[in-house]
Amino acid sequence: MEKLKIVETASYIPPKTVTNDDLSQLMETSDEWITARTGIKERHISLGENTSDLCTKVASQLLQQSSWPVETLDLIIVATMSPDSFTPATAAIVQGNIGAVNAVSFDVSAACSGFVYGLDVVSKFMTGRQGMRAMLIGGEVLSKVVDWTERGTAVLFGDGAAGVLLENNSADSYLLASVLKTYGDQHEKLTAGQTQPLTEFPPQTSTVIHPFTMNGQAVYKFATHAVPETIIAACQQAGVTVDQIDHFVLHQANARIVKAIAKRMKQPLEKFPLNIAKYGNTSGASEPILLDELVKNGQIKRGQLLVLSGFGGGLTVGTQIIKY
Ligand code: ACO
Repeated sequence: MEKLKIVETASYIPPKTVTNDDLSQLMETSDEWITARTGIKERHISLGENTSDLCTKVASQLLQQSSWPVETLDLIIVATMSPDSFTPATAAIVQGNIGAVNAVSFDVSAACSGFVYGLDVVSKFMTGRQGMRAMLIGGEVLSKVVDWTERGTAVLFGDGAAGVLLENNSADSYLLASVLKTYGDQHEKLTAGQTQPLTEFPPQTSTVIHPFTMNGQAVYKFATHAVPETIIAACQQAGVTVDQIDHFVLHQANARIVKAIAKRMKQPLEKFPLNIAKYGNTSGASEPILLDELVKNGQIKRGQLLVLSGFGGGLTVGTQIIKY
């Protein structure tokens, strides 16, 4: 399919760690409940750094690793559901911070599917543009949209950022399939940052930005059905079998979801790496954080077949097959 190649990966995790035991001091919960239901042991919380700060650190790291002159970047996309502001886009702030003067920059809003949606957008930008260079970063400061008194959602989320450099410069094909789907009729199943229009003028109250709300069981059911469907469709599109996939890099929302998907796909759990214990659900950042870890520790090697799969708010789902 497309010739875009993942050239580098990098991540930045804010240093402050909050354990399940820390949370049990704030709300009626326990390490036992959170671990059993989600697989999460701790998460990182950003103090004093916003989404663009995390993403800028990733961007600088990517440039340093690649030695690419910053002005050779043509495109910067940030996948986020927790941008610094409605406008400017977080990607524009990153572009300004690193001085990527030639890069068109904007955000993609597809929650936990943001990274795979962003990869699809990059591939379409790159079609027919030999030599084009892009940066795709998933970055989230979800802690600012969590209601820290609401145990049903507060225990799930964490902050972090990670990204990739992509280039269209090779004779080989790297993105073998891309299957994206949106179920907007279920948009109320997961919300964050909701606003209300004015009901009177002049207004008597100032704008409120609402925290996370989630129908956890509905999202769980959605993920365990929609992800396998898109994996099967992507394998068909790529002309490969599910057995040929080396690693399934799935969005880290819940270890139980990942295990249920592995079982449904009749694949060994070892092919489904998990790092949710350390980070919680970092939405658009979760897949690139996991990808970077697996590349850096040598588990993912050049030439291997990867499934990247995200699901979440929208509701959205997306799966890609990459030859790394
Ligand atoms: N600690 C202790 N008890 C809790 C907690 C907590 N943190 N949260 C809820 N409970 C209680 C509930 O009040 C309920 O008590 P009750 O039976 O007395 O009413 C009980 O635990 C069971 O609650 P459920 O919500 O039914 O628990 P469930 O087994 O469904 O697990 C969970 C909840 C972990 C949220 C699960 O539904 C899930 O993982 N869903 C998917 C969520 C997800 O992936 N979200 C992210 C999508 S990605 C994105 O776009 C951001």
